[in-house]
Amino acid sequence: MTQNTGAFEALLQEDRTYPPPAEFVANANIADPAVYEEARRDPEAFWARFAGELDWFKPWDTVLDWSDAPFAKWFVGGKLNAAYNCIDRHLDGPRKNKAAIIWEGEPGDWQVYTYRDLYREVCKFANGLKSLGVEKGDRVTLYLPMVPELAIAMLACARIGAPHSIVFGGFSAESLRDRIEDSQSKVMITADGGWRRGGIIPLKQSADASIEGETPVEKVVVVKRTGHDVPIVEGRDVWWHDLVADQPLNCEPEQMDSEDMLFMLYTSGTTGKPKGIVHTTGGYMTGTYATSKWIFDLKEDDVYWCTADIGWVTGHSYIIYGPLSNGATTVMYEGSPDYPDRDRFWAIVEKYACTICYTAPTAIRTFMRWGEEYPNRHDMSSLRLLGSVGEPINPEAWVWYWQHIGGGRCPVVDTWWQTETGAVMISPLPGITTLKPGSATQPFPGIDAAILDEQGNEIGPGGGGYLVVRKPWPSMLRGIYGDPERFVQQYWSNYEGIYFTSDGAKLDEESYFWLLGRVDDVINVSAHRISTMEVESALVDNLKVAEAACIGRTHEVKGQAIVAFVTLKDQVAGSDDVIAELKQHVAGKIGSMARPDDIYFAAELPKTRSGKIMRRLLRDVAEGRALGDTTTLADPAVVEMLKEQYGDED
Ligand code: WT7
Repeated sequence: MTQNTGAFEALLQEDRTYPPPAEFVANANIADPAVYEEARRDPEAFWARFAGELDWFKPWDTVLDWSDAPFAKWFVGGKLNAAYNCIDRHLDGPRKNKAAIIWEGEPGDWQVYTYRDLYREVCKFANGLKSLGVEKGDRVTLYLPMVPELAIAMLACARIGAPHSIVFGGFSAESLRDRIEDSQSKVMITADGGWRRGGIIPLKQSADASIEGETPVEKVVVVKRTGHDVPIVEGRDVWWHDLVADQPLNCEPEQMDSEDMLFMLYTSGTTGKPKGIVHTTGGYMTGTYATSKWIFDLKEDDVYWCTADIGWVTGHSYIIYGPLSNGATTVMYEGSPDYPDRDRFWAIVEKYACTICYTAPTAIRTFMRWGEEYPNRHDMSSLRLLGSVGEPINPEAWVWYWQHIGGGRCPVVDTWWQTETGAVMISPLPGITTLKPGSATQPFPGIDAAILDEQGNEIGPGGGGYLVVRKPWPSMLRGIYGDPERFVQQYWSNYEGIYFTSDGAKLDEESYFWLLGRVDDVINVSAHRISTMEVESALVDNLKVAEAACIGRTHEVKGQAIVAFVTLKDQVAGSDDVIAELKQHVAGKIGSMARPDDIYFAAELPKTRSGKIMRRLLRDVAEGRALGDTTTLADPAVVEMLKEQYGDED
């Protein structure tokens, strides 16, 4: 069913298990397996208990209104503010001078913000946004490096009820333009630049290009990070430090309805057009709060580090909203893991005595390749728990992480979830679950995940199929911004009333979930979601290209790499120069993470008789496999040609 079935058979050979260490169980936030049964019996009561641990200005009347399914309403009638829950409620007790954010810049500068500091900075910037005319409900686009101002700006938006739309700094000007236009943001927040591998990412340049000509953006706030010269447009641009200079240190939090939008975040789907995933306030905060507390086992003295960029959902939920609503100390790092050397992450762990580290398999595989000498340079005995997210983790990488980063002491939680789910859905609970390397193990209590076949029959232990979620959950997406039909079509129409994840999965004999990857045309490159269609449209946008088809091929470090098959207009085989030009073209159109690894030229692309490109065949060619069934192919000679040209590679 998916391209990874062979790999799964190998996973099943994997029989090492890791029960939770006794000491971990003794101190865990949750160690009683009865929670699973309790949550199954009454999921709404289960979620309501967590919601009740947040601060509400007005309590809710109804936990869940599913009468207009699939448009869910959670904690109906309740009023709260996400920034208040992340900051203000920690200010009364001993947490007020506790580190909320420990930030480290790539050049080695660092800064600690206590909860009280964060309160002042967020209030000042919230007042600054108001002075620019931002009101409740207005969308604000953030295009920033991993600097403290990114966290501050998010929380300031949340404070005044202006949904943020964060665009990862690696996206191109053109991708940024699409997202600004779709969200109709009046204000953008950016920086002169950010540091990466010792160089400057020219964010201001892309930000300027993204709003050239007609644009909804009226004001641009610019953070001074790198300090190099950037053009400032009179009347439109304002420096962050000037904007906040004279702002009052207090700003009343807006009393938001539980179902008011907290943020939108674009992600790739099957079509070329990114979707603005909408998350609302009460349910999202409940989901991220609950999962952070139980999966990351957050305690008062933890120093928790999630290495993601806030531009992705992982950073939203598990650098900012989840940890801060728990009153934890969260670490933010600006730069690259190999600057100035390949031990940078472990230097950070040692320097701040991090207790929890949450990263992606692609990073772990990179560290594995670099070798143990880098973690071995540092004292990492502070670590007690490790996490993984973004793509399936191969058992070898899991065990390496457990051994060489965790010193064989720290449980590893492999967390499966999506931008759409808002919070982790399938994951071990580290004080309860016996771990199996490569398996995300069990649905979080209250989450009704299941595996179905094409017809919608539930698959039992030992089987595989499509991963779905049968009951609504608090942090579920509420829609695709401005496109309710696409929302219903994309997620709720494969099976009536059931959320379709687009992931394949198997259940082992003990009902552990093993994720197999996407079943749609989404490629997971270094834990970044990229749609084949987006890359294809970027390619055909180049004047030389007649037609393009992209696939993901298995890649040792990135998980998947993008391979493009291209037919050129002049029918001439492409040169290395053309390959370089096309790669650059895609990076310029979308962002460097979408740059194809390989470009193959073909006189024609293999298509079915109805004109559908046969991606499976292309994948076989790209991975050097024997070609499968070609009987539906319109012109078998096309494949023979490709095979001759490229079939022996790899
Ligand atoms: C897709 C969602 C939400 C985290 C960051 C990615 C894949 C995510 C796992 C995991 C296997 C995983 C899935 C999913 N994925 N975590 N632990 N094991 N696969 O968010 O960009 O929305 O991508 O990432 O394929 O559908 P995203």
